[in-house]
Amino acid sequence: MTGITVRAPAKLNLQLAVGPPRADGYHDLVTVFHAVSLFDQVTVEAAGRDEVTVTGEGADLVPVGHDNLALRAVAALRAAVPDRGPGPGSVHVTIAKRIPVAAGLAGGSADAAAALLACNELWATGLSQQQLGAIAATVGSDVAFALLGGTAVGRGRGEQVTPALAPATQYHWVLAFADGQLSTPEVYAALDRLRAAGPAGAADPVAPAPAQPDLDAALMAALRSGNAARLGARLSNDLQTAAVSLFPALRKTLAAGLELGALGALVAGSGPTCMFLAANAERALELAVSLSGTGVCRSVARVSGPVPGAAVVSAA
Ligand code: C5P
Repeated sequence: MTGITVRAPAKLNLQLAVGPPRADGYHDLVTVFHAVSLFDQVTVEAAGRDEVTVTGEGADLVPVGHDNLALRAVAALRAAVPDRGPGPGSVHVTIAKRIPVAAGLAGGSADAAAALLACNELWATGLSQQQLGAIAATVGSDVAFALLGGTAVGRGRGEQVTPALAPATQYHWVLAFADGQLSTPEVYAALDRLRAAGPAGAADPVAPAPAQPDLDAALMAALRSGNAARLGARLSNDLQTAAVSLFPALRKTLAAGLELGALGALVAGSGPTCMFLAANAERALELAVSLSGTGVCRSVARVSGPVPGAAVVSAA
């Protein structure tokens, strides 16, 4: 066997409730993850040393040294593999990107999850899904979800994931990609600053941090009902005001989507991608066409969810 190819999905957060900063710099959160049909593809092949090549959407923005998240996932798996058989050798990782970089869609985490699964196959480690999930959680907050896929509740810093029980409804989304990137740590830091400043004089006041963020019961009920309009009305993201404060153009993008009939509009994760829920595939197409004509974003994509997590597409 010479190469394994795995694809892994982008994620949306249907709810993202963020607590105060922790001593380790992360924030406790409660989130509802939702995997959508926008995939990066990752191939691993045995090589003389660990290295990574990146092609496609935003490839020049991805680090290719050992701080590359996919290479970090490879190293984490290698360290966890029992020392038996031929052993986990070095690999060349090729990442074909379709998920925009630093866009709030966890593209780097998708690549890490894909590399993890691909090396797990290549090395025939015999690790269980649960063991793989535990390794994923050490690599980044969103990596465990990229392995799992579907719709799931995330807790802790996001790495503790539990599948959400919901009917097999497919939701149709339009993504508006921005002309630029946002750094996730900077967006969290902006939220902390806005919360510390309090409501006085703020253009967009934010509520103080909840001591313990809570899962939105009405959102979960909307998911169980399979009713897109109910879901659209309950989308929420504590990072949205912070993302808009750093990237004010998003205000117009969100407003344009709602004016064009979206059932809900939200900044995706830490942004700057905006996500819009449509009633069905036809409405999503109309919304995508209209939105791309308004000039409020760089480009648009139609996606649906939930989709499965990282999966092997070919082994040659
Ligand atoms: O875990 P990951 O590397 O994806 O996180 C990127 C950054 O986002 C962290 O360094 C931290 O600044 C911020 N973050 C956070 N709280 C979380 C998840 C991420 O503050 N729960």
